[in-house]
Amino acid sequence: VYRVWRGLGQIAAFNEDCDRAPRPVIALRQALAQADAVLFATPEYNASIPGALKNALDWASRPVRSNPLREKPVAVIGASEGAFGAIWAQAELRKVLRTIGARVDERELVVPRAHHAFAADGALLDQDLASALRAIVHGVLDTTCRRAA
Ligand SMILES: Cc1cc2nc3c(=O)[nH]c(=O)nc-3n(C[C@H](O)[C@H](O)[C@H](O)COP(=O)(O)O)c2cc1C
Repeated sequence: VYRVWRGLGQIAAFNEDCDRAPRPVIALRQALAQADAVLFATPEYNASIPGALKNALDWASRPVRSNPLREKPVAVIGASEGAFGAIWAQAELRKVLRTIGARVDERELVVPRAHHAFAADGALLDQDLASALRAIVHGVLDTTCRRAA
């Protein structure tokens, strides 16, 4: 089963001086901890990832040693309106996730011209991109299953 996490808008600005993490942050950490693997889909904002996503990852990265992304199989995909945009955003996100300690799948899925790339039901129109996405999802699931075995 997969779950889409929609809590990003509830996450307050990171503050390490908080005695207790805010409730939405606890929910984020629990969702990450419960997941066997995480697929990050990001747009590109000004050649990087959206601030809200970075902020959520900063929260998720603490406490350092027991953070819920440590050793977690993750993959990164992304879309941008520009032709090359999502490449940079994905590179940035991979860097952050590696720093946090996640096991980052090196395969990329770069969807350029995002405003023309999807059908009304959300499916990718380009069949090569669609099969690349399937390969990434299966790759992360394989890593997860090997870990569990
Ligand atoms: C503040 C902002 C900055 C953006 N910067 C870039 C960019 O540097 N390169 C690019 O190709 N697209 C850029 N975009 C377009 C987004 O990648 C595109 O809108 C995205 O696919 C849609 O995701 P969203 O609904 O989360 O905005 C930017 C969009 C916003 C709102």
